[in-house]
Amino acid sequence: MTVISKTFLKIPEVFLMEIGFIGGGHVAQVLASLFINAGHSVVLTNKHGLDRLKPVIQRLGARAEAGNLAEVARQELIVLALPYKAIFELDQTLFNGKAVVDATNYFPHRDGEFEQLTSHQLASSELVAHHFKGAKIVKAFNTIPVANLENLARNVSDDKRIALPIAGDSQVKATVSDLIKQIGFTPYNVGDLKDSLKFQADTPLFLFSGNRNELTAKFAK
Ligand SMILES: NC(=O)c1ccc[n+]([C@@H]2O[C@H](COP(=O)([O-])OP(=O)(O)OC[C@H]3O[C@@H](n4cnc5c(N)ncnc54)[C@H](OP(=O)(O)O)[C@@H]3O)[C@@H](O)[C@H]2O)c1
Repeated sequence: MTVISKTFLKIPEVFLMEIGFIGGGHVAQVLASLFINAGHSVVLTNKHGLDRLKPVIQRLGARAEAGNLAEVARQELIVLALPYKAIFELDQTLFNGKAVVDATNYFPHRDGEFEQLTSHQLASSELVAHHFKGAKIVKAFNTIPVANLENLARNVSDDKRIALPIAGDSQVKATVSDLIKQIGFTPYNVGDLKDSLKFQADTPLFLFSGNRNELTAKFAK
């Protein structure tokens, strides 16, 4: 994986985090690599056995490890990077009081029919929040074209960087917004979890890469 130059990353000592990933696939690996390059540590878990994560951990290096669900849940921030429907197989109390980033997307053809989602009564992340009662949830990173993400990180002014939409819990949003800046992007605050309806997989924002002004124009359409 591309190593992002750390010379432009201003990392305050106090802001080095331990970040857990539920999932060890494309999204988890790319985000984990970017977070590690910014100085953070990561723990990844998967479904079919931690042995399968060995080559991934080896590639990510010393600040990465594989762990079980409970180990991931102990981290300061947890990223959901698994198929949407698999979320509902997880213990509802797993993230009680924890900060959680929902990076998933709901696709009816893949995840099955959730009437409240197809009718847009609820944002997919709101259903996640209903499941993990007591978790503090934000939606972020779900719009990213993952294959190209590392190439999109830029050492340029905020207004020229690729902007990533984020919505949900204010406190977690502040932390994740700082993380987004550290890895070379600019956060774009969309509002509450309900507002994440505006950048789900069935919107024009999905897989869109643009700076802050370009995102504003896209949201206005
Ligand atoms: N790919 C993209 O461009 C992109 C961009 C933004 C968001 N997303 C969303 O992010 C999520 C992950 O996408 P991806 O491309 O990373 O998928 P992926 O490469 O298929 O990886 C999914 C990972 O989730 C793990 N997993 C499945 N069920 C699990 C469970 N019950 N407990 C723990 N781990 C479980 C899988 O484990 P095993 O390896 O053991 O099967 C795998 O490591 C999806 O919701 C996707 O829609 C994708």
